Amino acid sequence: MTLSDTPARYGLVSRLLHWGMAALFAAQFVSAAAHWALPRENALREALWSYHTDLGITLFFLVLVRGVWGLMNISKRPEQSGRIGTAAVAGHAAIYALMVIVPASRILAAAGSTRGFSYLGIEIFAPRAVEVAWMQVASEWHGEMGWVLALLVLGHIAMAVIWHRIVRQDGVLERMAG
Ligand code: HEM
Ligand code: HEM
Repeated sequence: MTLSDTPARYGLVSRLLHWGMAALFAAQFVSAAAHWALPRENALREALWSYHTDLGITLFFLVLVRGVWGLMNISKRPEQSGRIGTAAVAGHAAIYALMVIVPASRILAAAGSTRGFSYLGIEIFAPRAVEVAWMQVASEWHGEMGWVLALLVLGHIAMAVIWHRIVRQDGVLERMAG
């Protein structure tokens, strides 16, 4: 398998980013679901929540790398054809946008907060004396946007597995998984 993408299939780097991030996103959504569904002071909720920030920031860095790699490979990637293909491009673009906006909204809020902010124990933003109000605005929608991303991903998986693999059997799943 080549490192770069080819018109027939995604290469090794794109696959590592796609499947590695898919596993990390699964863990991130499990953490968010526990935060939403379980009562406060529940030990499992706290354990699953303890990694939400560090994993969220890791995913933010990874999506930037993935975006740059995607742009470098854009002319070589498997082509999307027809109406379903156009819908797939729009769907992937929406997933990309939310993969950036969802963590960025919270990082911006943390940068403007009085609590300060650390990544893997390293202080990134020192606490501010006064909260910056405009930096908090987008983060009010962080959770909702996160759930929209989760729904898009569910639709994406259904399209890949049910539509492409089971109904059409057109080899689209195989260009990322085969
Ligand atoms: C791609 C990365 C991320 C995803 C998919 C994500 C997803 C979510 C979701 C779905 C919720 C709602 C949970 C609920 O309903 O109780 C949530 C809440 C939260 N997340 Fe994230 N998150 C990500 C990154 C981050 C980052 C980087 C931070 C911190 C810098 C963060 C901090 C929080 C906090 C404090 C809450 C609870 C308050 C709220 O709902 O806004 N998240 N996240
Ligand atoms: C079981 C889970 C998953 C399956 C079976 C799956 C399947 C696929 C397949 C077959 C492709 C290639 C589509 C094509 O060539 O048109 C693809 C691409 C893509 N997938 Fe997934 N996927 C899964 C999880 C995820 C997750 C969790 C995300 C993001 C949170 C994601 C985001 C993307 C994006 C943005 C692309 C476009 C190519 C790229 O830039 O990597 N996928 N997926």
